[in-house]
Amino acid sequence: MIAQLFSRRTAFGDAAVLVDALPPRQHVLVTGATGFIGRRLVAALAGAGHDVTVLTRDPAKAAALRPPIRIVTDLAQIASDARVDAVINLAGEPIGNAPWTRRKRRRILSSRLRVTRAVNRLIARLERRPAVVVSGSAIGWYGLWQDETLTEFDGGKRCFTHRVCDAWEREARKAQRLRVRVVRLRIGLVLGADGGMLRRMLAPFALGLGGPFGSGAQWMSWIERDDLVRMIAYIIATPSFTGPVNATAPTPVTNAEFARLLGGALKRPAFVRIPAFVLRHVAGAFADELMLGGQRVIPDKAQASGFVFRHETVRDALDAILGDATGGNLAVTRPMPVTRSAPAEQLVDQPAVEPAARLLRSLRAR
Ligand SMILES: NC(=O)c1ccc[n+]([C@@H]2O[C@H](COP(=O)([O-])OP(=O)(O)OC[C@H]3O[C@@H](n4cnc5c(N)ncnc54)[C@H](OP(=O)(O)O)[C@@H]3O)[C@@H](O)[C@H]2O)c1
Repeated sequence: MIAQLFSRRTAFGDAAVLVDALPPRQHVLVTGATGFIGRRLVAALAGAGHDVTVLTRDPAKAAALRPPIRIVTDLAQIASDARVDAVINLAGEPIGNAPWTRRKRRRILSSRLRVTRAVNRLIARLERRPAVVVSGSAIGWYGLWQDETLTEFDGGKRCFTHRVCDAWEREARKAQRLRVRVVRLRIGLVLGADGGMLRRMLAPFALGLGGPFGSGAQWMSWIERDDLVRMIAYIIATPSFTGPVNATAPTPVTNAEFARLLGGALKRPAFVRIPAFVLRHVAGAFADELMLGGQRVIPDKAQASGFVFRHETVRDALDAILGDATGGNLAVTRPMPVTRSAPAEQLVDQPAVEPAARLLRSLRAR
């Protein structure tokens, strides 16, 4: 098993370099630290010697994060005289793992507002306020567009993801009244092998069953996960960043192009187009907003500030992520819940990414 081939130290990789931009010994509070983005961020921060406090509902899950960290289940556990230099607020009910029933929509919205309000209450009672809050949002804030390029200076169109992100951002902005710099990070589709959209796409594409969604003309604005972690550190360290910031790579692609590139990276055909009506029938508005619709977002502020992306193109990002199944990002996976569609033999004592990694190795060997 890949996870067992790597020692704990090696398995966390060289994540520490991702936060090189930070001054030494920062005290950072992370919510959503056990998630796909958060766990890589924590590995980087803790690995670089920063003091990390994580808020979680599940201390057992957080115990698997890169040590040393402090785990809290309620921000009330943080003393008023504690030092917190920066808050990174990512927690929220997953948005892309199930159809948006009324209950699911409520949880998506209320979980983000609840955690962000708790962060604001903490900031209000801290004797020394943090310098910055980097609070999650998503490119869904812009709503659904065609081919227009969007920067932080554009407006948003109404839809469910816009409503969620807008309410989340408004709550986060309240920390400005406490004289704290607030950055609202409009995150694009995050690419990494052990989570997010790519993880869900890997199995069908590796089997040659992948392809575009609907017409494939919809735009996908993406960012490689390590670049996102680097950007978060850069934003914390750069006081001129404030307000909305697009966390996307400079070269968004259409869904058809993404499918072609992913198929190419896996050396598999990617022609199995899933018709829009099928996706709509199965997933309703979820399909319309997350699979069939999109937005072409440009990281205007990051580029203007001189932030350098390591992965500017999808091809480059996929090469880095999939290039070496035993030494690349696939090696830093944690065990995670298996998917119902995984073949039975892969469900036994395996991190979910291991089957995809094995499949990739065998495809490459041919
Ligand atoms: N991944 C992407 O492509 C992407 C793109 C745009 C925006 N974002 C946003 O960025 C944030 C982090 O993304 P991610 O992919 O790392 O998310 P993730 O893997 O789903 O992790 C989110 C974390 O939030 C916490 N959480 C989950 N449900 C919650 C609930 N009902 N109430 C309170 N906390 C809850 C969980 O932490 P505990 O279980 O430890 O409490 C979990 O580890 C999310 O808010 C997401 O919407 C992600």
